Amino acid sequence: MVTLQFIGGGRMAEALVAGLLADARRAPGDLRVVEVSEQRRAYLAGEFPGLEVASEVSDCEGLVVATKPDAVVEALRAAGSHRVGRVLSIAAGVATATIEAALGGGRDVAVIRAMPNTPALVGRGATAICGGSSAAEEDLEWAEALLGAVGVVERVPESLMDAVTGLSGSGPAYVFLVAEALVEAGVLNGLPRDTATRLATQTLLGAATLLSRSDQGAEELRAMVTSPGGTTAEALSVLEDRGVRSAFMAAVSAAARRSAELG
Ligand SMILES: NC(=O)c1ccc[n+]([C@@H]2O[C@H](COP(=O)([O-])OP(=O)(O)OC[C@H]3O[C@@H](n4cnc5c(N)ncnc54)[C@H](OP(=O)(O)O)[C@@H]3O)[C@@H](O)[C@H]2O)c1
Repeated sequence: MVTLQFIGGGRMAEALVAGLLADARRAPGDLRVVEVSEQRRAYLAGEFPGLEVASEVSDCEGLVVATKPDAVVEALRAAGSHRVGRVLSIAAGVATATIEAALGGGRDVAVIRAMPNTPALVGRGATAICGGSSAAEEDLEWAEALLGAVGVVERVPESLMDAVTGLSGSGPAYVFLVAEALVEAGVLNGLPRDTATRLATQTLLGAATLLSRSDQGAEELRAMVTSPGGTTAEALSVLEDRGVRSAFMAAVSAAARRSAELG
């Protein structure tokens, strides 16, 4: 029986497979990907030599559901007649209760739901997980080990998954918007576009790395670069006047509300 089987071989599944195979303890033969698109199957087989890529589900110890949310129930029904140890779903907004019902309510399969984000593609994801009605500590640890291959993992109650979606699920898009704006601002002030792009990218990367490694929080680190009457104080006063802080708060809340509606 295969150790880990993915249903849906899209971008997120590809990121997870790449992350898992980067760990020498896992071999391509431990993994299997079930994908409906023939073109995508050929791509995955070429990308990961030795990985089994198929069009039909088989028995497995762990099943990772990585289709789009509206395809989850149908995909799980296809898995219904097979032996499955645990299920990990990364589909946005699909509740563990829905997954348990789609698997066939009577089956004692531990279900874990996760919300990853796209930096998982480069091993820097931020993922939150929660367990379904029959998930035990060892099931959550299994999911943490799996998702830990592509970034950091936090446990939350399922009631907070919409908030997670609003913050870290959609979060990379907010950062890309900031990056776009910084590049345009650099160009407006005379910098060549490629120079502005490199400087803006490294500024975001450097600031995030500093924040993640420092004992100090964001507020203290910001104060460190804000000398009284200086250039940064001038810039921050413009951002505060224009409501950037409250705009981010409203944006995350709007995304969380939308996630709840879609769920
Ligand atoms: N990308 C993100 O930022 C992000 C963040 C957090 C969570 N997620 C979640 O991750 C999941 C996957 O996202 P993604 O971006 O990887 O999507 P994607 O690239 O569209 O991948 C989904 C793949 O599953 C295939 N598929 C659909 N139904 C199937 C079935 N019954 N059996 C086997 N394969 C099937 C699709 O084929 P067709 O295209 O031919 O239908 C597609 O290749 C989504 O549920 C999403 O909510 C994504």
